[in-house]
Amino acid sequence: SQEQQKFAKRARLYRDLFIKNGEIQARYLPPLFLGIALAGAFLHGLFLVTHHQLSVGSLVAYMGLMGIIRFPTFISIWSFNLVQLGIAGAQRILTILREETELDENENGYSEQMRGEIVFENVTFSYGDTPVLKHISFRAEPGQTIAIVGQTGAGKSTLTKLVNRIYDVQEGHIFIDGVDVRDWSMDALRSQISTIEQDIFLFSRSITDNIAYGLGQKADQAAIEQAARDAQAHDFILNFKDGYKTVIGERGVTLSGGQRQRIAIARALLTDPRILVLDDSTSAIDSATEDEIQKAIRRLLQGRTTLLITHRLSQIRWADKILVLRKGELIDQGTHSELIGRCELYRRIFVHRDRVPTGQLVAEQSQEVPLP
Ligand SMILES: Nc1ncnc2c1ncn2[C@@H]1O[C@H](COP(=O)(O)OP(=O)(O)O)[C@@H](O)[C@H]1O
Ligand SMILES: [Mg+2]
Repeated sequence: SQEQQKFAKRARLYRDLFIKNGEIQARYLPPLFLGIALAGAFLHGLFLVTHHQLSVGSLVAYMGLMGIIRFPTFISIWSFNLVQLGIAGAQRILTILREETELDENENGYSEQMRGEIVFENVTFSYGDTPVLKHISFRAEPGQTIAIVGQTGAGKSTLTKLVNRIYDVQEGHIFIDGVDVRDWSMDALRSQISTIEQDIFLFSRSITDNIAYGLGQKADQAAIEQAARDAQAHDFILNFKDGYKTVIGERGVTLSGGQRQRIAIARALLTDPRILVLDDSTSAIDSATEDEIQKAIRRLLQGRTTLLITHRLSQIRWADKILVLRKGELIDQGTHSELIGRCELYRRIFVHRDRVPTGQLVAEQSQEVPLP
């Protein structure tokens, strides 16, 4: 496979460089000088012996003493090597230190309390050459839930990453409360937008620390417990022997997918963001915890503008607006009942994702809502 080829290539390169290193060392001067010095000393000694000015025993002793300079010679090669390694390493560290961020933080930019209106205006974005999002325009009023559906690779996650400027748009504009995101102060922008992603990252610290993470030191225990209660996490947390002090991870308890999710929801509730991004967040959960999570999420959405990427029909249904993406293009937007009536792709995604026997749902729905 590709990785194996890459590895073989790197291994060969390493071997070649190692041999080259050996060659350079072999040509390196100290051993040569050592050889010449030893030979010179020996010849000189022989000369003295033949002229009876030195005994054979003394010659042997002399040569033995000359041998002592062998050690510093080789040490010098070794340390030369080390110095070279150090220089190479330092160069790499320095390039990282000197790297400047491309995003400007815009510290003096707009920083107000957000209302949560999001407007995309003709947004085009690409990672490399091929556009991943093409001419996207839509509008979310404060407090609305906007579901985004589309196949894998359609650009759903990318779209959400433009809102808090993980990436910047190349064409068009994104406005939050009527202000271009690039004119917002980065700090004000990001502190009011929370993202819950598929892989929830928890630290190997106590549950309290994990929930309070977004707020740093500012959170008090009562607020943390309230957030946990709203996230339907309080009960399972109290079931642990150490309650909120339970340490998660390697040296502590392992949480299930649903529990991790509720911790993440509690974390988001505590930071109280105006805009919330939920990316595929309930995919790996059994239906027993599903209800609890649904409750928690519904609580979380209240009063916040939410971009919701999911394939759960139950969640898509509550959305005020659904965006249907295909290969970076926004092919339709509307409510569930509008789209089920007029958008072929939406019906397909929907039937497929919920594993309803193919045809059945389409047939039912198209009888209710005749195709235009
Ligand atoms: N960091 C990245 N660098 C380059 N290409 C990316 C990156 N992230 C996503 N892509 C590409 O952009 C397209 C859209 O990806 P994504 O937004 O993750 O889609 P979705 O969330 O709908 O599955 C895909 O073709 C993907 O390969
Ligand atoms: Mg995605």
